[in-house]
Amino acid sequence: MFKKVIAIMTASVLAASILVGCGGSTGASSSAPAEQKTEEAAPAEAAEPAAAEAAAATDGDLATKKVGVCIYQFSDNFMTLFRTELEKYLIEKGFAKENITIVDGANDQATQSGQIDSFIADGVDVLIINLVNSSSASTVTDKVVGANIPLVYINREPAADEQQRWADNNWNVCYVGCDARQSGTYQGEIIGDLGLDAVDFNKNGKIDYIMIKGDPENVDAQYRTEFSIKALTDAGFEVNKLDEQVGMWDQVKGAELVANSLSQYGNDIEVVFCNNDAMALGALQSIQSAGRKVGTDIYLVGVDALTEVVEYVISGDITGTVFNDHFAQSHNAADAAINYITGAGNEHNIQCDYKKVTKDNAQEILDSLK
Ligand code: BGC
Repeated sequence: MFKKVIAIMTASVLAASILVGCGGSTGASSSAPAEQKTEEAAPAEAAEPAAAEAAAATDGDLATKKVGVCIYQFSDNFMTLFRTELEKYLIEKGFAKENITIVDGANDQATQSGQIDSFIADGVDVLIINLVNSSSASTVTDKVVGANIPLVYINREPAADEQQRWADNNWNVCYVGCDARQSGTYQGEIIGDLGLDAVDFNKNGKIDYIMIKGDPENVDAQYRTEFSIKALTDAGFEVNKLDEQVGMWDQVKGAELVANSLSQYGNDIEVVFCNNDAMALGALQSIQSAGRKVGTDIYLVGVDALTEVVEYVISGDITGTVFNDHFAQSHNAADAAINYITGAGNEHNIQCDYKKVTKDNAQEILDSLK
């Protein structure tokens, strides 16, 4: 904390002195504008960077570059893995720890917008942003592009029309993530692969399920909800949705919702789909408290491959999960940030793959997480 305060103070003093040096014409000036690629840069009033100079930047220069990272909420299990790996990798790539500032949006868009304003005022060289609300993307993009700062969105994918704007205007803005449809499909396949006989405990010929969703504003939640079931119907299964509830990616909420569903629908629930592992961990607590046993009279799947969940997949307490590769995503995000700083540029949408995790490969996945 103390270090961060010092870092922010140092950055402010630096930014202030640069503003004086530049005649104080714009509050959005970067301390190192020469490194930004701006041939087609947006409404920037900031200084003119030279593309050639930008391209000449070397790894050594990264030590002086400032990175601002906005995380939607520090208490999110998955985003904790993500930001820890992101910081580690940025340092490995040559950034100085004191020049990387990571802030907690506390799941509040107004708080996060204020943090973005501060980063802009401090003249960071690049911003990596995990939005609180994906729908705020256009406002945030306009602000950051207007300040002539390259922007890498992570984890919460802005809408397609917003991404189209980046391409149309050739802005230094991209999204780094994985295609959430794939994670949903894998969840459905994990259940489908068990076969109807194994899943259809009540013998009504259908897969009776409940769905515990993440933040509904988030495409990860929307796609996982849709594609997990689509994988089953595409494979020819009949499905029956008993309940669908919003658990906001949260373990405690997940536990509460699944406990309610179990008391309402009892043994008719054959599968519990959770949009993420945190909620699956909550679901497991409630399944066990209700005297049910995963693999014997109910099935449970999540997404993320949190260590604890992969261990439960090995022990059979959770049917399966889907590895949400925080290594690839954080590395891709850092590499994209570097590409903007050095002038190399990026595609506007950078994807990686999810991986299915079942008892068959869970040990292997667990080893790879260490
Ligand atoms: C992860 C969730 C996480 C969410 C945050 C998703 O991709 O699967 O665990 O809570 O991102 O936005």
